[in-house]
Amino acid sequence: MSRNARISGRAIALQLPDLSSFTHPRYAALADAIRSLVLDGRIPLGTQLPSERELALSVQCSRATVTTAYDRLRELGYLVSRTGAGSFAALPAGSGSAPVTPIGLYRGTPIPGVDSPILDLTCAAPSGFPDLINRAVQGAAAMLPHALSGLGYDPIGLPALRVAVANRLTERGVPTTPDQILITNGALHAFDLILRLLVGPGDRVLAELPTYSGALDAIRGSGARLVTASMDLDGGWRAGRVASTIRQLAPQLAYLIPDFHNPTGILVPAADRADVLRAARSAGTVVVIDESCVELGFVPAVEPTAARDASVITIGSLTKVVWGGLRVGWVRASPELIARLAARRASSDIAGPVLDQMVAAELFTDLDEFVSRRRAQLLANRDALLEAVAVHLPDWRIRPPQGGLSAWAELPVPAATALALLADSVGVQLVSGSRFGVEGTLERFIRLPYTLGPDDLREAVRRLVPIWAQASRHTSTATLRASAPLIVA
Ligand SMILES: Cc1ncc(COP(=O)(O)O)c(C=O)c1O
Repeated sequence: MSRNARISGRAIALQLPDLSSFTHPRYAALADAIRSLVLDGRIPLGTQLPSERELALSVQCSRATVTTAYDRLRELGYLVSRTGAGSFAALPAGSGSAPVTPIGLYRGTPIPGVDSPILDLTCAAPSGFPDLINRAVQGAAAMLPHALSGLGYDPIGLPALRVAVANRLTERGVPTTPDQILITNGALHAFDLILRLLVGPGDRVLAELPTYSGALDAIRGSGARLVTASMDLDGGWRAGRVASTIRQLAPQLAYLIPDFHNPTGILVPAADRADVLRAARSAGTVVVIDESCVELGFVPAVEPTAARDASVITIGSLTKVVWGGLRVGWVRASPELIARLAARRASSDIAGPVLDQMVAAELFTDLDEFVSRRRAQLLANRDALLEAVAVHLPDWRIRPPQGGLSAWAELPVPAATALALLADSVGVQLVSGSRFGVEGTLERFIRLPYTLGPDDLREAVRRLVPIWAQASRHTSTATLRASAPLIVA
């Protein structure tokens, strides 16, 4: 497990429930509360906990109470102490590597009356609008004869598309020239290229918790050491301590999604961004901002992060606004870095497909229309989902997403994996919150994409009601790793 930042007694105290409302002894209540903060990912694994004395002062209890609570957490495997180094948040051995909940227990118990199609809530990615995409395909086909006269290999990307992306960024408030743009096969490919170029094995890479699961996989795949800082679910990075984690651990790179974050839909305020950029500058941390969902806000956007700091690397793609099947994304960085990324890319997939890039360049002429249709569609879907959850699953807590394609539901008990497994039997496919965290945390959350239409979303919630009653009796720290879908967008 990688080392994470230290958390202060005050930061823990701010996240604790009122311990006097618990019926069991105070030490057990404190241990339980800390355990659930670890399971939720609000205390990332590897985080150094405060000394017993500091925590006792912060939560206003005796030192003996904290000592006994820490002993209890150690016994259960949620705390590991190293002589001279301190105590660190952990998970019990084995809980992160295989499902603790026996999968077979839940399979094959269909709920009577459910014979309609499977409702897939595993991906926060929309289907395409055929009319607009067809128009772009026709436009690209007309240009094809001209393109065929060349070789078609261009690692940095089709010039017309680089111009279109640069113009769009400039219109959004980040003056950009085409030599600052590299075209990639989607935003995840863009991030993977950046990791390969800038991060070596053992370097620290910071990500928010929760975060986009594909990015977590890419960081792990790069051999880097993943460190995490919790999102503040009430809206930003401050209380989630992104800046303080950067200051303490000086990661080589920080991967952040401030604009309608996947999975929570949060828009991080400008002040939090300024704090993080200050911390990154003094720590020498490269900041990568993933703008995949930036155009999909239900509230006014915040000034683009790259407009505040020329060293910020921005990645984006057409997946969320247009269609994931297009596989067109980009990196915005300095011309020097773009040239190095293109050279690196030439040794893996050589270049992106020309025809898709031509279609994408055509699509940019209609992008405003895509954006407004997509936003309207997602807003109607989001509202239907929130209303259905409020009516049928009232003990689930959802802060309305400010944009993006998914809601992050907080369950009253850590039973997300059991819920996802059981949901299969009623034709609903779900991904547990733990897929967006590390080593089995975030079991108390479930991501609910709202890319299906209102009727399908209401039906999905209706199907989940009896399932939730069953699942909530099977709380566990299991992850879905053994049965996880290959693609989670
Ligand atoms: C935040 C974020 N970044 C990147 C991606 C991957 O996008 P692409 O299809 O452009 O690779 C996703 C898709 O789910 C995402 O949510």
